[in-house]
Amino acid sequence: MKNKLKFRTRAIHSGNKADVETGAVIPALNLTSTFKQISVGVNNGFDYSRAGNPTTKRYEENIASLENCDFAISFSSGMAAITALFQLLNEGDHVVIGRNTYGGTYRLTTEVLQRHGFKFDFVDTRNVDEIAAAIKPNTKWVFVETPTNPLLELCDIKKTSDLCRLHNISLVVDNTFMSPYGQSPIQLGADIVMHSATKYIGGHSDLISGVLITDNKVLAEKLYFIQKSGGAVPSPFDCWLLLRSTKTLGLRVQKQSDNAFILAEKLSLHDSIESVIYPGLKSHKQNKLAIKQQLNPEGKPIFGSIISIKVISVEKRDLFLKKIKLFTLAESLGGVESLISVPYDMTHVSVPIKTKEQMGLTKTLIRLSVGIENVDDLYSDLLQALED
Ligand SMILES: Cc1ncc(COP(=O)(O)O)c(C=O)c1O
Repeated sequence: MKNKLKFRTRAIHSGNKADVETGAVIPALNLTSTFKQISVGVNNGFDYSRAGNPTTKRYEENIASLENCDFAISFSSGMAAITALFQLLNEGDHVVIGRNTYGGTYRLTTEVLQRHGFKFDFVDTRNVDEIAAAIKPNTKWVFVETPTNPLLELCDIKKTSDLCRLHNISLVVDNTFMSPYGQSPIQLGADIVMHSATKYIGGHSDLISGVLITDNKVLAEKLYFIQKSGGAVPSPFDCWLLLRSTKTLGLRVQKQSDNAFILAEKLSLHDSIESVIYPGLKSHKQNKLAIKQQLNPEGKPIFGSIISIKVISVEKRDLFLKKIKLFTLAESLGGVESLISVPYDMTHVSVPIKTKEQMGLTKTLIRLSVGIENVDDLYSDLLQALED
């Protein structure tokens, strides 16, 4: 099926064939921990749900096809996916990683993995020369998020993957902020794509999940082995919800991005806002790269649903948060409902204050995750919350 059908068709049909036995258009959800065996060691393809489940398998087929790849390996959370990924490496291996990664990834690498002998260099991944300068003889991967959370800094995936090829190392891209609909890192040369499926892929703020995607069979087999050995698998029920969600992924992400674009343009004219960070704005230093790299399946630029705004003071921030009604103060992003957060004290609380200051991640930065509500209602709500 690879490459032949268009994204939205794959979203509906990959992994979603009608049930052969009953004809049910929506195949049954297999809520089972174990499977009846025909005789010792002989089964119908499944023996125990940690090692494989029909619903999980259908979801993995679906998500692999959305990234135009052969293999997807699912996990119980985005962080479980990243943890599993690092289990491919050995003590002493070195990874060049973005300095503005999600706070949880920063915490995992600095507070857990470093203790196990993994080495990291945190660099500004907007600058490919800076990535190149950090590569050492023991470097195994470059790990980037693009756009980053929450500063929306971009990494040039094509240039970085060319660099990785040159050094015979792998490029891992956390594609959470664009979803498989808005950016295709594997097509640009990345070796592994990661998603917190909790975000756009789930899309309804009702589950936690993560996934790794690759076209490399050897790598995929190792990851399936880690998946069943480590055991951080998603529940079949979550996979069923995810399969239901990916059917509308394209519609949701497009609408959320369209809404965000309108809001970002309007907010950038507001007096109480010091700056608006959004890759779709001409004022964004990497706007041209966003236009080139972030493409929906129709080949049109798409900028995502996340807008970061810096207000003029912490007092203004607190007043704004008190008055806002339609954006719920909560961690997470990418769902159909608009959310708002203060990364400095919420998602990025584990990042040292000095590091946050160096990056420009201030207490006055508010991250908006724009949903699919009516955009005029969202704008009116933002305006009334910004009033003194
Ligand atoms: C960019 C990014 N990567 C990874 C994660 C971790 O995913 P999860 O919360 O599903 O474990 C998050 C969570 O916010 C994220 O924003």
